Amino acid sequence: MSRIAYVNGQYVLHRDAAVHIEDRGYQFSDGIYEVTAIYKGRPVDNDGHWDRLERSLRELRIDMPMTRGGLDLVAREVVRRNRVRNGIIYIQITRGVSPRNHPFPKDTPPSIVMTARHGLGSKPEVAAKGVSLISHPDIRWGRRDIKTVSLLPNVLAKQAAYEQHAYEAILVGPDGMVSECSSSNAWIVTKDGALVTRPLSNDILGGITRKRLIDLADAEGLRVEERSFSLDEAKAAREVFVSSTSSFAMPVVRIDDSVIGNGHPGSIVTNLRARYFDFLESASGPLWYGH
Ligand SMILES: Cc1ncc(COP(=O)(O)O)c(C=O)c1O
Repeated sequence: MSRIAYVNGQYVLHRDAAVHIEDRGYQFSDGIYEVTAIYKGRPVDNDGHWDRLERSLRELRIDMPMTRGGLDLVAREVVRRNRVRNGIIYIQITRGVSPRNHPFPKDTPPSIVMTARHGLGSKPEVAAKGVSLISHPDIRWGRRDIKTVSLLPNVLAKQAAYEQHAYEAILVGPDGMVSECSSSNAWIVTKDGALVTRPLSNDILGGITRKRLIDLADAEGLRVEERSFSLDEAKAAREVFVSSTSSFAMPVVRIDDSVIGNGHPGSIVTNLRARYFDFLESASGPLWYGH
């Protein structure tokens, strides 16, 4: 079966899909994106992803290319045409195509691309064993709360992690405090069992999974503290984990040369991950593919 992409109003073969060389996303990384999981044919936390997409666009003063209902319709069609039951949908919107010049172009419609891919999350063995992180300086700009396609520092950090056979890079500011990871939010569990993650601000991306896990933790009666923590505190924590649309809640058993806890996934993250799967199973949103 051929993969299908949506590009500016048309469904085209993925291998032929293209945007213009003067698309501002290509030339200035002047655009935003979203990634939504599809679980058993349903989008996960769909409203949260559309809310964040609208906010990212608003912050960059890029017009919505269509209504939210329109976005829903196209996303559903891309998922359906690619027969994705478990996977992700990727949505990218840029300020459009215009002769290269820094100021915003006038009367230029935004460009929109959507693709869908099969496969969601790592193999169960990965979470069962836990993953390692490397620490890396956070060299990103001051608006990390906007989900822009401008991901070069994230790419460099993730590459450093891959080269050291680590799952993720945990990003650390000049003050020694952790912001998040290259493509996920960072969490620790303190000795007395509190979950700690950095509060929302311009310093981190407000993860949709982060928000969902806070709600699930609350429902479990766990204490959640939204505060900053240092790399040293993370290395000495009882448990560490990362969260994202495709990793859910992923246990961490090592940061650099420091073993976390007893070197195995902790009980709190293991339980929280199970609750996240319960949430995925209980999803009652619209069915985009299958029955
Ligand atoms: C920098 C960064 N932080 C956090 C996240 C997690 O966000 P979400 O849970 O919405 O996938 C991502 C996801 O791509 C990310 O790129």
